[in-house]
Amino acid sequence: MTRYTGITALVTGASKGLGTAYARELARRGARLVLVARSGDALRRVADSVREEYGAEVTTEVADLAASDGVSRLVAALDRRNIAVDLLVNNAGAGAVGPFLGSPQDRHIDSVELNIVALTRLSHALGGKMVARGSGGIINVASTAAFQAMPYQATYAATKAYVLSFTEALAEEFRGSGVRVMAAHPGATATSFFEGTTAALKPAFTDRPETVAARTLDAFARGAVNAYPGRTGLRAITWATRILPRTTTTRVSGRLNRALGLDQAHDISTPAPEPS
Ligand SMILES: NC(=O)c1ccc[n+]([C@@H]2O[C@H](COP(=O)([O-])OP(=O)(O)OC[C@H]3O[C@@H](n4cnc5c(N)ncnc54)[C@H](OP(=O)(O)O)[C@@H]3O)[C@@H](O)[C@H]2O)c1
Repeated sequence: MTRYTGITALVTGASKGLGTAYARELARRGARLVLVARSGDALRRVADSVREEYGAEVTTEVADLAASDGVSRLVAALDRRNIAVDLLVNNAGAGAVGPFLGSPQDRHIDSVELNIVALTRLSHALGGKMVARGSGGIINVASTAAFQAMPYQATYAATKAYVLSFTEALAEEFRGSGVRVMAAHPGATATSFFEGTTAALKPAFTDRPETVAARTLDAFARGAVNAYPGRTGLRAITWATRILPRTTTTRVSGRLNRALGLDQAHDISTPAPEPS
């Protein structure tokens, strides 16, 4: 798949942020879309604007992918509507921010269910159909967080390390099958990722979701297994973490996150952690 014209692409987490940017960029390049998220109204607004702007064919599916039956219900709905997905963009993702013990257990587990379990289930269900057809593609949205442990985003970074490892393995297993698999590693991107928490992205260090989406799709079309769609310096950081001792990179990433105030961050609905 080197062009997107006429394909059917399913984008999870398309109601806002990077998912909306992937949807818009895919429509601009001529794809039909299936947009998935929990917020039906927001999804329908995105679908309407994409139809209006690009004349794209767009279907929406409301699904809670972190629920135990979320993916099976979604796949059943696609089957009922006879929708064959050519490109799966596993974009939906979430993560707790702040000290590990400062967030309720469920906040961590929900991110594991969404970032790991749902992504794996969708890759298995839709990837299996693609391999049977002998064509298709999967883009798994990981993060530069995948390359090192991150104190104060401990579960989030660990889920993205899974996405990186899983994607590289699948890309190799599927080689020659007609199905390509790629992980995308954005850096900080201007979305509402930290919404509902006291943390904030620093505008000077964030990329635009539109740029990240376009660069991701360009990299996939070129045949990459890993894409680094953020600003140039970010890729160099992923090299450093492969060379330095893991204890060093963990210390440095902990120090950086403390400098960003993430050691004091918490959900707005939960109390601030005790200062240490
Ligand atoms: N922003 C960054 O700095 C950054 C950097 C690197 C990687 N990423 C990755 O990029 C991806 C998109 O993040 P974003 O920044 O665009 O975040 P965002 O603005 O918070 O959007 C997250 C999307 O996921 C959907 N979602 C959340 N929980 C869901 C669930 N249980 N079932 C179905 N959909 C669900 C949300 O829609 P509903 O709430 O409507 O369900 C929303 O559409 C994530 O995988 C994230 O880890 C982000």
